[in-house]
Amino acid sequence: PDADLRLDAAIARHAQEEGALLPILHAVQREFGCIDETAKRRIAAALNLSRAEVHGVVSFYHDFRERAEPRPVLKLCRAEACQARGVEALVPAATRAASDRVAIETVYCLGLCSVGPAAMADGQIHARLDDARLAALIEAMA
Ligand code: FES
Repeated sequence: PDADLRLDAAIARHAQEEGALLPILHAVQREFGCIDETAKRRIAAALNLSRAEVHGVVSFYHDFRERAEPRPVLKLCRAEACQARGVEALVPAATRAASDRVAIETVYCLGLCSVGPAAMADGQIHARLDDARLAALIEAMA
C-alpha cells in the first residue's frame, strides 16, 4: 500500500548516510506523525538493527511518538529566552483553554527568541504571545 511505499522511500533517502537511524526516524516522524510498530520493524530490517534497538531510540527522544497525536498540536517554546519573556505564566491558562481538545507540546526554541513567547501551530509561527493571543490561537485550532 501507499503508506509502505512512502515509508520505504523515507528509509531509502537516508539509508546510505552514516548514522542513518536518526535522520530516518525524523523523516518518518515528519511524514507520518509517528513511528509505529511497522515502521520500527522496517527501519530495523533496512539498517540491520534489531527492532529493540530502534525502539530504544524512539522511546529515548521526546521528538518521536509511537502513535500519532489525534488532536491538533500547539508547540509552545519554553526555552530560556521565552522563559525570560514570561512563557511560564501563560501555561496554566493555555492548558485550561486547550483542555482535551488541543495538545500542547513543549519545544525548545523556535528561533524567535527576541520576540517570544513563541509557539508553532499548523506549521505557522506565532510570536509575542500573551494570554489572550494564546487563547485565541488555541480556540482557532480546537
Ligand atoms: Fe523561545 Fe528561542 S527561546 S524561540
